[in-house]
Amino acid sequence: MQRIFSGIQPSGVPTLGNYLGAMRNWVPLQDTHDCIYCVVDLHAITQWQEPAQLATQTREMAASLLACGIDPRRSILFLQSQVAAHVRLAWIFECVARLGWLNRMTQFKDKAGRNTENVSAGLYTYPVLMAADILAYKATRVPVGDDQRQHLELANDIAQKFNHDYGTEFFPAIEGLIMGPAARVMSLRDGSKKMSKSDPSDQSRINLNDSADDIAQKIRRAKTDPEPLPSELQGLEGRPEARNLVGIYAALADTDHASVLREWGGQGFAAFKPALADLLVAKLEPIAMEARRLLADSAYVDQVLREGAERAAAIADPIVAEAMRLVGFLKT
Ligand code: AMP
Ligand code: TRP
Repeated sequence: MQRIFSGIQPSGVPTLGNYLGAMRNWVPLQDTHDCIYCVVDLHAITQWQEPAQLATQTREMAASLLACGIDPRRSILFLQSQVAAHVRLAWIFECVARLGWLNRMTQFKDKAGRNTENVSAGLYTYPVLMAADILAYKATRVPVGDDQRQHLELANDIAQKFNHDYGTEFFPAIEGLIMGPAARVMSLRDGSKKMSKSDPSDQSRINLNDSADDIAQKIRRAKTDPEPLPSELQGLEGRPEARNLVGIYAALADTDHASVLREWGGQGFAAFKPALADLLVAKLEPIAMEARRLLADSAYVDQVLREGAERAAAIADPIVAEAMRLVGFLKT
């Protein structure tokens, strides 16, 4: 069985973008792959997190993943900071990756903005830690949203350079699994920006714990254009907001853009938006309820994470030990 690895940062409440681009795609992979899913708390502190809030959000993220259908009997679910192999391998990879490679990362440029002198060094080396996350398990398939494409290419470059420099075939090639009609969910306020946990405007996103009223209101106010929906795909060109809402609908209804347009072409947003809001509530409310139920017994969630960390370490430790041997670290 191929091994899957993916991660999500506990830097806020998961958004509809996280859900459609990543979390929901992780669930069916459990039937066909050996799956390892990680709440990447080390990645979260590349940008400031209040300590008490980080701890709460980390447990809530784990509960959301369980609520979405990650099954700890079939998959490993754990916290990145609890498995030391990640940072050990990350250091080796920092010495393999080239500065020029990191300078090309568009997510760093987006997150740092004009502030490049004053962001953390961790934000800059963030994709190196991500490469270590995956390769510490020799995972070959990584289900992520479209925004992570460039980071996966970097991870492959690092694996290749390590293999080349140390004259080995130790690390495998990684393949991204970028799935479904909503691999890039955009902000509800601006069709050119991705939906994000860290956007200052709560109106820009649907959070997985939003109430039915919040969802209906956010969709009602979502930016659109005055034209009715087109009947054909080409009609979405130059209409990013319309494309985004159609993509969300398609993902939730388990179909694609074209069939949503076949059903809704010619109709206006006044009709489409309430149908979309209803679909969102129907799909998201059970997840929020289950997450709340799980959080009422945080001892259970913590135990899942503790056992997950033990199982993860049992896989990663020998792999990273071998990488250390290849580098030439003396084992006494
Ligand atoms: P993050 O919230 O940055 O930790 O992202 C966790 C996962 O969600 C990654 O696989 C991302 O690619 C995915 N993701 C985040 N935002 C979006 C979005 N707006 N649309 C689709 N996928 C997303
Ligand atoms: N960088 C990813 C994001 O922000 C999260 C992440 C960290 C990840 N490590 C990973 C995703 C390993 C896949 C595999 O979305």
